[in-house]
Amino acid sequence: MEGNTQKDVDKLIKQVNALLWCVGGILLVVVAMLLLIFVGDEKSKEDFDNSEVNRALIDSAAPVNHPSLDESTDLWTAADLSQAPASAKSQLEYGKELIVNTAKYLGPKGSVAHLTNGMNCQNCHLNAGTQPYGNNYGSVASTYPKYRGRSGAIEDIYKRVADCFERSLNGVAPKVGSKEMEAIVAYINYVGSNVKKGDKAKGAGIYEVALLDRAADPAKGKVLYAAKCVSCHQADGSGMMNADGIGYQYPPMWGDHSYNHGAGLYRLSRFAGYIKANMPLGATYKAPLLSDEEAWDLAAYVNSMPRPSKDLSKDWPKIEEKIFDHPFGPYADAFGEEQHKYGPFKPIKAAQKKVKKG
Ligand code: HEC
Ligand code: HEC
Repeated sequence: MEGNTQKDVDKLIKQVNALLWCVGGILLVVVAMLLLIFVGDEKSKEDFDNSEVNRALIDSAAPVNHPSLDESTDLWTAADLSQAPASAKSQLEYGKELIVNTAKYLGPKGSVAHLTNGMNCQNCHLNAGTQPYGNNYGSVASTYPKYRGRSGAIEDIYKRVADCFERSLNGVAPKVGSKEMEAIVAYINYVGSNVKKGDKAKGAGIYEVALLDRAADPAKGKVLYAAKCVSCHQADGSGMMNADGIGYQYPPMWGDHSYNHGAGLYRLSRFAGYIKANMPLGATYKAPLLSDEEAWDLAAYVNSMPRPSKDLSKDWPKIEEKIFDHPFGPYADAFGEEQHKYGPFKPIKAAQKKVKKG
């Protein structure tokens, strides 16, 4: 009898214990669910806010019709890769792949080497360098080697490609002779192989936006950036990575991972021309979405933000050859760095013309 009572008490204790564990478990589940609901709610609030911003953006980006930048029907189109000789095809395709997905091979998490800032050549050379007025490679094969004032020397395509690695991609170029460098140069040569030596391809490179009578205004550009660019390139200019964290979905505008002070886009005329024909995403030379003033003011704002620097002391060894919008002195003319950066550029160009004539 006594033994039985002891057993009953033991059983009771076990049951109470089990009950306690159960209650504890349920409590844990409830807390977890509450947490989930709370966080989920926050997240959907975020989504909501974003969609509000996006709606505002779409409203503010309501189609303003700007005239086409070029009505010609005979703009350059790239030589067709599928027509390339079989023996060259795999190298050409690798070259194209390196232009399109540079970061995947050569970026900070690249599978071949870690040489660059994570951007792709294609971020600025649209459609693998074949888009009219999308900074395409149409005139490269036909015009290089050529003299360039920036280096004060005759440059071949290797040197020009290396320049973009060191400036636009703020990194180091693969060596001449490496599989990667050879493939890139072969690809660039191939796409422009249908342009006669010495000729310039129509619609090649960057569109030349008309110069303003005033200086470009970073304050106006800031307002425009918030309305038309921020949804992709972000408020802090850092862009947005792909989910894999290897390359960008939206490339950076400024900051540590953007192009450096020595890059072409750091010149206001290059930036304005590039975005006039191509940004916000969806714009083309046929249907631009920015006025000339907007393009200049956006260029002024983005290029007034911090970015990596580069030793440019060897650039433009003949200062009288310095391009009008190179923002670093000394200059052969009487205008300062501020005006060489933001304009107005017409007086600078007029003075340069005089010097050339005289
Ligand atoms: C941040 C933007 C940017 C990126 C990224 C970039 N480039 Fe460029 N690239 C430019 C600009 C701007 C120019 C000058 C265009 C001009 O002066 O009209 C240029 C010029 C060139 C030219 C000469 C074109 C000509 O017609 O003279 C070549 C070749 C070139 N880039 C190759 C590359 C390659 C290869 C990569 C990737 C390794 C690359 N670029 C990445 C912006 C960029
Ligand atoms: C809908 C998204 C979107 C919007 C909005 C947008 N961009 Fe872009 N932008 C892109 C993408 C994507 C690329 C790269 C294109 C590619 O790789 O094919 C790019 C590339 C660029 C580049 C060259 C690469 C770099 O990072 O330096 C510049 C400059 C640029 N955009 C400026 C602007 C400006 C200025 C605006 C606002 C007027 C703008 N973008 C609006 C998506 C966008």
